[in-house]
Amino acid sequence: MKVLGIETSCDETGVAVYDGRAGLLGHEVYSQIALHADFGGVVPELASRDHVRKLAPMVRALLARLDLPSAAIDGVAYTAGPGLAGALLVGAAFARSLAWAWQVPAVGVHHMEGHLLAPMLEADQPAFPFVALLVSGGHTQLVRVDAVGDYRLLGESVDDAAGEAFDKTAKLLGLGYPGGPALAALAAQGDAQRFQFPRPMTDRPGLDFSFSGLKTFALTTLREQEAALPASEHARLHADIARAFEDAVVDTLAIKCRRAIEQTGCRALVMAGGVSANRRLRARVDALMADLGGRAYYPRAELCTDNGAMIAYAGWQRLRSGEHEALGFGIRPRWPMQELTAGG
Ligand code: KG4
Ligand code: ZN
Repeated sequence: MKVLGIETSCDETGVAVYDGRAGLLGHEVYSQIALHADFGGVVPELASRDHVRKLAPMVRALLARLDLPSAAIDGVAYTAGPGLAGALLVGAAFARSLAWAWQVPAVGVHHMEGHLLAPMLEADQPAFPFVALLVSGGHTQLVRVDAVGDYRLLGESVDDAAGEAFDKTAKLLGLGYPGGPALAALAAQGDAQRFQFPRPMTDRPGLDFSFSGLKTFALTTLREQEAALPASEHARLHADIARAFEDAVVDTLAIKCRRAIEQTGCRALVMAGGVSANRRLRARVDALMADLGGRAYYPRAELCTDNGAMIAYAGWQRLRSGEHEALGFGIRPRWPMQELTAGG
């Protein structure tokens, strides 16, 4: 079964074809970063309009590149939520129209399920059960995964997501949008000894996170130090703050991952979502899992951030278990993952 996957939940247009036998046949991602950069963040209306412009040509180009006629597609999967309502609607309407025209089933996929199943697109897959750390611009969650569709939320952020904290702190430091990769690059030049930021919520039991205080801590440090130092020292100051911030986020995530592994007894940890592209976080989680006698798994970098391949894969899992939708369609801008059940 070949499934076309469509991702439009935020500022990336992703299309892909996943084949149950051959695996991922191909995927394309178009990032709207340049479109939103002048505004310092995603403008929902511009995002929707750009998805409208890009979707049809991208699907046509992908099928042509893979030398696949539309008749070869057995189903269409699209991101039904969570995400920006207008952007989701564009993908949903487009996917359902294609499915209607091609007379194949369609299925709406949960964006975070897509992220957490993304490591299954790689040859080296984790075995169930595993713990997934989902770290993106909108979510920070620890989830126990017993099977496809069997997810138990262990903990999540009570305020900002890790990626959001990266983006906001990057903005304070005068870096562009999206700030995560830029902040990580700056942190690489920073001195880890100069500032010590707190590790929020690690001094009490539980697996929830809180990252909004770290951003405030960065702001306060920045203001105090900038006032006390000559301008020639500011560039180094920014790098040292970026380093202290990144270390605090990485350390906090690692502490909670250790707890989640110890609590569940799982041997594998899967990391997914945009922040899992962070090199320092990967190194830290690799070391942690080696120490615990287990292993960490991540999708390749291009499948960590938003993409159509993870949606095609999650959709294939649901379609092959017989799940698909009636002709009407809906989207869910807010959608707790605990409401998902196993397919079938
Ligand atoms: O999963 P994703 O592409 O989109 C959402 O569903 O949110 O994640 C995007 C987030 C942004 O906040 C971005 O700044 C962050 O991932 N990010 C990073 C890195 N690369 C992307 N954060 C820290 N370090 C990185 N290398
Ligand atoms: Zn995402």
